Amino acid sequence: MLLKKVREGRAEIILEDNVFYNPRMKFCRDMDILIFSNLQSRDYLDALSATGIRGLRAKIESDYEVIFNDKNWKAYNLIKENLKLNGIEAEVLRVDASSLMRQRFFGHVDIDPFGSPAEFIDSACLSAQRYLSITATDTAALCGSAKISGLRKYSACAVKIDCYPEIGLRMLIGKIAREITKYDKGVEVLISWAKEHYYRVHLRIRKSVSFAGKLYRKIGYLFYCTECGRKKWSSMLDAETGSCKCGAFTIMGPLWLGELDNKQFTASLIKKADEEKFNLLQSILDELDTPFHYDIHLISRIVRVSPPKIDRLSEIIREKGYSFSRTRFSGTSFKTDAEMEEIIDMLKSYPQ
Ligand SMILES: C[S@@+](CC[C@H](N)C(=O)[O-])C[C@H]1O[C@@H](n2cnc3c(N)ncnc32)[C@H](O)[C@@H]1O
Ligand SMILES: [Zn+2]
Repeated sequence: MLLKKVREGRAEIILEDNVFYNPRMKFCRDMDILIFSNLQSRDYLDALSATGIRGLRAKIESDYEVIFNDKNWKAYNLIKENLKLNGIEAEVLRVDASSLMRQRFFGHVDIDPFGSPAEFIDSACLSAQRYLSITATDTAALCGSAKISGLRKYSACAVKIDCYPEIGLRMLIGKIAREITKYDKGVEVLISWAKEHYYRVHLRIRKSVSFAGKLYRKIGYLFYCTECGRKKWSSMLDAETGSCKCGAFTIMGPLWLGELDNKQFTASLIKKADEEKFNLLQSILDELDTPFHYDIHLISRIVRVSPPKIDRLSEIIREKGYSFSRTRFSGTSFKTDAEMEEIIDMLKSYPQ
């Protein structure tokens, strides 16, 4: 049999039919290596390993102590082959990831599934002691394209609007945050992003009953006016609704309303990043912490003006004394602390 070998980062792996490996996720794994090298725990569960590539790279490039796991026999045997190929010894398990995480604690748990991580979130929240990293590729369920799937998997409701990638990320983090508080733990987002077909979040865990309770200040609902595009939000503890002058709001949530990254942590990564990672990290660093971005095209359509260049819009909004930033989500999106009515006025009054 002809073995197919690939090199990724400083690891080399053998590939096999029916064992998952997606070369397009290399960027995500490259980001992870940069991130892992800045974390304080080396005890890491690669709960859904497939070929073992993520854990192997964590071991070789970030000096992690890795426990590999995959319930599939072929994957389990391949992980062992791949460890041997790289001259590495490590614990390899072939069990159901949820059962494992209900039985053992790990400093850092990583969940990188096909599609939705929903079935693993509860046990991962129990098992992870310091860090939790999660990927989701069921973007339609998270961002409001598949509303019922979103309800079934994340117990949250969304419809697809202009800032849908941000809603997806916030629905995922919101679900994790709501699951973890019952274990007297809370989370802080170290870094998160949306790219192509996936979301990735890296969370730091804080064990504290009071921190866990206060997390609900950062979880809540988005109120969206389909007429004028206005967005308001309110935490579960405040539970204010209000209405837009156009009529009733569409309600979405529960969603994470807190920060999508820790700026200090992100800044510490950027120094070692190559160009592609630098661009993402810079856009994360620049982005305002305020939730929910606007899309310049959608807003211009609502206001019935031709869309200004984003740099021009930035000048107009800043001249009026408001904050403005681009976002990590797309080249045509922006965030501001200006109210929707003011954004509309500014768009209407700038010279076309
Ligand atoms: C998307 S792949 C993992 C990809 C890998 N982390 C990477 O970076 O290439 C998901 C893997 O999870 C395994 N898996 C699915 N459900 C599982 C479960 N309940 N327990 C353990 N492994 C599981 C599958 O066999 C598959 O190999
Ligand atoms: Zn309105």
